[in-house]
Amino acid sequence: MVNILPVASGKGGVGKSAVSVNLAISLAQKGKKVILCDFDFGGANLHTLLGLKNNQAGMGNFIYRQVASLESLLQETGIENLQFIAGDCLFPGTANMDFFMKKKIMKDLAQLPVDYIILDLGGGSSYNTLDFFLLTYNPLLVTTPEITSIMNAYSFLKGAVFRFFTHQFPNKSPERACIQDFIKSVATGTESSFMSLMETLCQQFPETGLPACQELAKLNPQVVLNMGATTQDLEMGRRLRSLVNSKLTIRMDFIGFIPTSAIVPMAVARRAPAIVLEPAGTFATSVRKAADRVLAYEYGFNENLSIDNADLELLRSEYTPTEQE
Ligand SMILES: Nc1ncnc2c1ncn2[C@@H]1O[C@H](COP(=O)(O)OP(=O)(O)OP(=O)(O)O)[C@@H](O)[C@H]1O
Ligand SMILES: [Mg+2]
Repeated sequence: MVNILPVASGKGGVGKSAVSVNLAISLAQKGKKVILCDFDFGGANLHTLLGLKNNQAGMGNFIYRQVASLESLLQETGIENLQFIAGDCLFPGTANMDFFMKKKIMKDLAQLPVDYIILDLGGGSSYNTLDFFLLTYNPLLVTTPEITSIMNAYSFLKGAVFRFFTHQFPNKSPERACIQDFIKSVATGTESSFMSLMETLCQQFPETGLPACQELAKLNPQVVLNMGATTQDLEMGRRLRSLVNSKLTIRMDFIGFIPTSAIVPMAVARRAPAIVLEPAGTFATSVRKAADRVLAYEYGFNENLSIDNADLELLRSEYTPTEQE
């Protein structure tokens, strides 16, 4: 089964793309078959980091139904074992793709014949970003040690936890209504206690509430602390972990500590990946360590969001590729 690794962040510009590209190369160099996908809808730029020209069909062509499969978008990168799916450059509005397109993308991703698929997601917590983030129980979250980045990472995870939990219950169910009431009842300026919501649901709906809480316990995001410099920075990471654990009830693991390194902006300017330009540098070494930790996990696919037969029927009727104009 393919391992899907979505890479997200609360704050923009914290190094998602730099981490995605270099982690993908590192996994490929360790002998795994990898596909790197530019899923930053509205802000695709991974081709530049890979030194590729922006003249191939990408996710935009798929979303606008000009090509029938994700497989037809695969490009060679010049790096052994690593293929690339470009983003949506030149196509406006793909970030607002509809529900069926999102499901179609998820289904097709799970069928790509490789070991790892890395999804470089856009910044922020739109529903589309959260849903791709939640494709696995162990998604990657990039943050810097800066307090604003840490707080945004926490807010992003809070959004992800609420969405994950809500999706445990059917649409228009009393459980979902209870969650909505809870969100609305939170007074301005107070932190909503997710724990109390879980308790309420388990008391009011024991048959569905308890399994939902057990499912949530499987969610275990992995954090990459990027652009760190000092041991104090590590402390910021630890604070984020204890906040997530105490307020959102889920576990969070660190998978990488990547220092600030001049090779990263230099690599952008030279349109070549940093890990290739300076393979023995501190940046490359720390990315390789993160890749080793990634290899130790089974990422799999979040069955909650995987496609059931009813969805497939809908997809068949909704999705008809049209001729390219
Ligand atoms: N470890 C690092 N050391 C030095 N500079 C870095 C490091 N990681 C990222 N950068 C720099 O930070 C900037 C943002 O990086 P990047 O584009 O990868 O972030 P992003 O999270 O993908 O941004 P966006 O939200 O816009 O997609 C770039 O200029 C990049 O060169
Ligand atoms: Mg980016």
